[in-house]
Amino acid sequence: MNPCLVLALTLALGLTASLPARADDPESAAKEVNQALHLKPNLENGRKVYLICSVCHQPEGWGSVNGAYPQIAGQYASVTIKQLADIRARNRDNPTMLPFTMSKTLSIQDIADVSAYIEHFPMDPHNGMGPGTDLELGKRLYAENCAECHGDRGQGVPDKHMPMLQGQHYRYLIRQFEWIRDGKRRNADQEMVKQIQGFSSRDIAAIMDYTSRLAPPLEMVALPGYVNPDFPSFWRPRVTLVRPMEKVAER
Ligand code: HEC
Ligand code: HEC
Repeated sequence: MNPCLVLALTLALGLTASLPARADDPESAAKEVNQALHLKPNLENGRKVYLICSVCHQPEGWGSVNGAYPQIAGQYASVTIKQLADIRARNRDNPTMLPFTMSKTLSIQDIADVSAYIEHFPMDPHNGMGPGTDLELGKRLYAENCAECHGDRGQGVPDKHMPMLQGQHYRYLIRQFEWIRDGKRRNADQEMVKQIQGFSSRDIAAIMDYTSRLAPPLEMVALPGYVNPDFPSFWRPRVTLVRPMEKVAER
């Protein structure tokens, strides 16, 4: 996204003051997740809170095809809630987003509201995909190693905070997978961490390419030309309009 926008937003929100020096705090995160899951979401407030998020994740929640920003549209509210709580407890490193998740900016009710608001977004019909050259291998490795937890179509399991992987950008998937494997993403599932140690870089590229092609059900995908009607005049960078295969072919 435009760095000037981030800076303007940061200044506007008065977030340049030093952040509290908090160590990793899985317990406070778990408590917040539990609280947020029991609140009744207010979608109108979710829309207002989302104004901040839209600057990076786009008004449609589709992130960027190059994977710098993940697609969050359609993700289960339980997953978004857990990620927000983990990020602000420093249980998952996300320095870009951290200032926008602090409790001064985002109450627990706000977390519940914005997560419920995003869950109903139609998803990106053109998410970033890999080169499509090793899909047989990807399919086999996914079925053997990932489907048991993430579902045969990458649909996830909302009650277990198991993220939906379908429709996610290829490069974002690879980055998260490697961070989970290397222990850099500390909020990861420990069983997954153990299970994924042995993959080669070819395996990882193949699994993620296959995973990025696990399409969400049609009714969850946006129609051509869709823009979030709540943000009609938002400036949308061209990157969201580039088709994934063109983008990947540039590499
Ligand atoms: C300044 C930019 C920025 C802002 C503002 C921002 N995010 Fe993010 N967000 C990111 C980046 C970058 C990542 C990916 C980090 C990584 O690769 O681990 C991310 C990741 C996420 C994830 C994790 C997705 C996943 O699949 O695990 C969620 C959920 C999320 N953001 C929700 C939000 C919400 C809700 C808001 C508004 C309250 C918000 N973000 C505001 C930059 C931002
Ligand atoms: C034992 C269950 C389990 C297995 C097996 C597993 N995962 Fe996961 N995975 C999880 C859980 C739980 C999370 C979410 C952790 C969290 O809360 O951040 C996750 C997170 C992820 C993420 C990050 C998603 C995001 O939105 O940021 C990716 C990518 C991923 N898994 C890919 C895979 C792939 C590919 C495989 C197979 C090679 C796999 N996982 C196997 C449980 C599992």
